Amino acid sequence: MELRDATREDLDRLLELFRATIQRHGPAHYPHHAVDAWSYSLRKDKLEALMAHGRLIVASDGDILGFGAYCEGHLELLYVDPDHTRRGIGQRIYDVLEATARAEGVDHITLDASKISKAFFARHGYRGLGDAERPTCGVKILCTRMEKRLA
Ligand SMILES: CC(C)(COP(=O)(O)OP(=O)(O)OC[C@H]1O[C@@H](n2cnc3c(N)ncnc32)[C@H](O)[C@@H]1OP(=O)(O)O)[C@@H](O)C(=O)NCCC(=O)NCCS
Repeated sequence: MELRDATREDLDRLLELFRATIQRHGPAHYPHHAVDAWSYSLRKDKLEALMAHGRLIVASDGDILGFGAYCEGHLELLYVDPDHTRRGIGQRIYDVLEATARAEGVDHITLDASKISKAFFARHGYRGLGDAERPTCGVKILCTRMEKRLA
């Protein structure tokens, strides 16, 4: 499996993977209408902005198995294909994003963890700062604002 920066040709697959991941894992934690709204909330222009101004990384073995994004001290996205979770893919993508933040010299990373990903980030040294809501097409997705100090 390789880790590389995303290209424009990857973007449709990233939107598909985002939808599939949320639709698979979301219903255990969020109401149906929220899962639906959230799964269609990511847009290509957001991914293009992350490519231009931050870092958008994909894990690929020919097909894309996961992706993550970081921009200006904030971990924006981390999604692994639902048929490939718990194989260390999220960890490997995360490590590249954290290394990017360290290379920029930021002293902490923040993120809004969904109920699906909170345990993953706690395992990676993040502490909860309180509730946060991700407004998605008028539907609120309850998250936890988390922070990791890098210094
Ligand atoms: C969170 C996510 C990115 C983790 O990716 P992954 O490839 O499955 O994670 P990894 O295999 O690298 O896990 C590394 C370690 O993190 C912890 N971890 C990962 N998923 C976990 C879970 N669901 N519950 C508890 N711990 C978890 C474990 O300690 C794991 O090590 P182990 O498998 O040896 O026990 C993935 O499950 C995902 O895409 N979730 C849904 C999307 C989402 O909510 N993304 C974040 C939005 S902010």
